[in-house]
Amino acid sequence: MKTPRTIVVGITGGIAAYKAVNIVRAFVLNGDSVHVIATPAALRFVGKPTLEAISRNPVHTDLYEGVAEVRHVAIGQGADLIVVAPATANSIAKIAAGLADDLLGNTILASTAPLVIAPAMHTEMWNNPATVANVAVLRSRGITIVGPGVGRLTGTDSGAGRMEEPDTIVAVALAVLDRAMPAGEAAASAVPDLAGRRVLISAGGTREPLDPVRFLGNRSSGKQGVALAQAALARGALVTLVAANLEVAVPTSITTVLVGSALEMHEAMTRAAGTADVIIMAAAVADYRPRSVQVGKIKKEDVGDTLTLELVKNPDILAELSTASRPGQLIIGFAAETETDADRLLALGRDKITRKGCDYLVVNRVGQDAGFGTERNTVTVLDRHGVIVNEVSGSKMSVANCILDLIG
Ligand code: C5P
Repeated sequence: MKTPRTIVVGITGGIAAYKAVNIVRAFVLNGDSVHVIATPAALRFVGKPTLEAISRNPVHTDLYEGVAEVRHVAIGQGADLIVVAPATANSIAKIAAGLADDLLGNTILASTAPLVIAPAMHTEMWNNPATVANVAVLRSRGITIVGPGVGRLTGTDSGAGRMEEPDTIVAVALAVLDRAMPAGEAAASAVPDLAGRRVLISAGGTREPLDPVRFLGNRSSGKQGVALAQAALARGALVTLVAANLEVAVPTSITTVLVGSALEMHEAMTRAAGTADVIIMAAAVADYRPRSVQVGKIKKEDVGDTLTLELVKNPDILAELSTASRPGQLIIGFAAETETDADRLLALGRDKITRKGCDYLVVNRVGQDAGFGTERNTVTVLDRHGVIVNEVSGSKMSVANCILDLIG
C-alpha cells in the first residue's frame, strides 16, 4: 500500500477559495494526507466544516491556537508539499517578502517542502508591476506557479487572472511532489523542471489558399514543434500547440489549436500569448499570401498560358509577439535557412534575431536533405546579442530538450 504523503493546502481570501475544496478532495482521493490552513479571509468564502469534512482533518487558521505544540513549525516541518490555492496578490506579495504575520506565512517559512502557488486575481492586479516582480522572485526561488488562466472573472469581465482549473493544479502539484519524493514507479520519467509553466508552441507549415482546392505551402512536417511540445509536457509544462498542417500525430494530452493559414496562426498565437510564460515559434509561416482567394476553382480555360499571382505580406507573428511581450515572458524563434556556408548561416541568424527582437533564435539549415521532414536536426542557438549559447545535433527530441533548457 502507498504511504500517504502530507500535503498542506493553504487557502487565501479570494472568491476562487470555493474551488479549493475540489483540490483538497483530489489529494485525499489520491491517498495523501491533507491539512488545510485557511486565512480568516478565506473562511469568508468557504466554510470550515466543508473543508474539515473533505480533508478529514481539523482546519487551522489562527497562529495563536495550539501554541503549546508550536503549530506553525509542526505543520511546516511535517509537510511534504505546500500548495497555496487560490493565492491572492496580497498573499503572493507576503510570501515573496517572507512575511510571517499569519499561520500560513509562518508555516511556509518554517517548511523546506516544495511550494506550488496558484494565483487568482483580477487582470489588472496580475499585470501590476508589483505582482509581476513578486512572481518573478518566487520563480527564482524554484517555487512552482500554476496559472493563472484566462477566462471569466468574478464579475462580467474576463481576462488573465482566473485561478487555474483544480485538476490542473492537482496534476502539477503531484508532479512536483513525485519529483521531491518519488512514489515508486509512478514517478515521472523526466524531471518536471517546467512544472506549471505555460509553454505556447507553433508547429508545422502554413498553407495560403489560392482557391478552394489549391494553396501555397512549404515542406515543414511539424516534427520539431511536436517534439518540443512532447518534451515540454514531459517536463511538467502546461503546453498549448498551435498546429498548422502537421504530418505527425500529436498526443491527446496536449491542448492543440488547429490552424491552416498564416492569418489563422496569427490570430491563435496572439490570443494564447497573453498567458504564456514561454512562446516558441517553430512553425514555418508563409511570408506572403495571395491578395485574394478565388471563390471557385481557378480554371486554365479562363486564365490562359500564364497565371500571375499577386501576393501580399503576412504579419510577422514572431516580431509582433516579441514587441508586445510582457516582463518575464521568454520568446524563442527559429530561422530555417538554405545557406550552406556555416559563417554566412550564422550571420543570417544574427541579422534575423536583431530584426525579430526575440530572446533566442534557433538557426538550422534546411533543404531537400536537411531539417524539414527529417528525424534529426542540427541547430545553433543564438541569444539576443547574437552570441552562440548552444550547438546541438541529434534527434528532434534531444534538440527539443536542449532548447527547453534555455527556460530558466
Ligand atoms: O523571417 P523568417 O520566416 O525566416 O523567420 C522565421 C521565424 O519567424 C520563425 O520562428 C517563424 O515561425 C517566424 N515567422 C513568423 N511570422 C511570419 C514569418 C515567420 O512568426 N510571417
